[in-house]
Amino acid sequence: MVGIERKTVSVNGNDWHVATSGESGPVILLVHGFPLDHTMWNHQLEGLSDAARLIAPDLPGFGNSPPAAEPFSMELAADGLAGLLDAMQIDTQVVFCGLSMGGYIGWQFWRRHRAKLAGMICCDTRSAADEPEVARGREMMAARVRSEGTSSVAAAMVPKLFASEAATSNSVAVRETAAVISATDAEAIATGQEAMAVRVDATAWLPAIDCRTLVVVGAEDAITSPAEMREMSGRIPNAEFCELHGAGHMSPLERPDAFNERVREFFSQGFE
Ligand code: MLT
Repeated sequence: MVGIERKTVSVNGNDWHVATSGESGPVILLVHGFPLDHTMWNHQLEGLSDAARLIAPDLPGFGNSPPAAEPFSMELAADGLAGLLDAMQIDTQVVFCGLSMGGYIGWQFWRRHRAKLAGMICCDTRSAADEPEVARGREMMAARVRSEGTSSVAAAMVPKLFASEAATSNSVAVRETAAVISATDAEAIATGQEAMAVRVDATAWLPAIDCRTLVVVGAEDAITSPAEMREMSGRIPNAEFCELHGAGHMSPLERPDAFNERVREFFSQGFE
């Protein structure tokens, strides 16, 4: 059984809950999606620990991390992650692996902390900003959870996160993900939605991304489609594209063995 260590790391006055595993190899920073926590990466913390040092934090306000003193944003999260690496005395470049909102934060990490990056793994995410009606929907959800609580959020979100067969073929992952969403604080959901609604469009940055990049998407991703991600991948020099069959938006969780194998292959070519 692989040892996953859990600890609290203080980053500029904010406490971050962090899970780690592995002792040697490249450092992978695993950044969860919305409104989730580090447990979505349990299969990577377990399955890749012989090949990498894995760091999976709960972003401020999510999982076991309290909210930061400053308002949540993609920029703040990227800066916090850079501070976390410093606080953990990680002095080598890392591979930033983010899913969906974690990927939005990844663009900011690349722009603001390029010197810390060896490579990127972009899972089920997009570079574009929200269309106006999507941003409006987020503002409405923020208002709703503040007034009515979070009871309806998991039921509304979970069917969009997983492949169509998952309710039967992957029922444990579906149930556990619903439990994580239900346990997420209303204010974290509201501020997360508001932060994503105003995030910048990173599409113009893609041709300048100069580190090795792996783009992964579930073939049944209903939120960030394979077609959109393939096009995005084509704009990043040196990007490799991987579509995982039998997975939706949660590809590392839905097809962990295939995902981990693809990551091992990505690592085997080394980083400059
Ligand atoms: C996520 O999985 O992080 C969300 O789907 C991101 C979003 O709402 O755009």
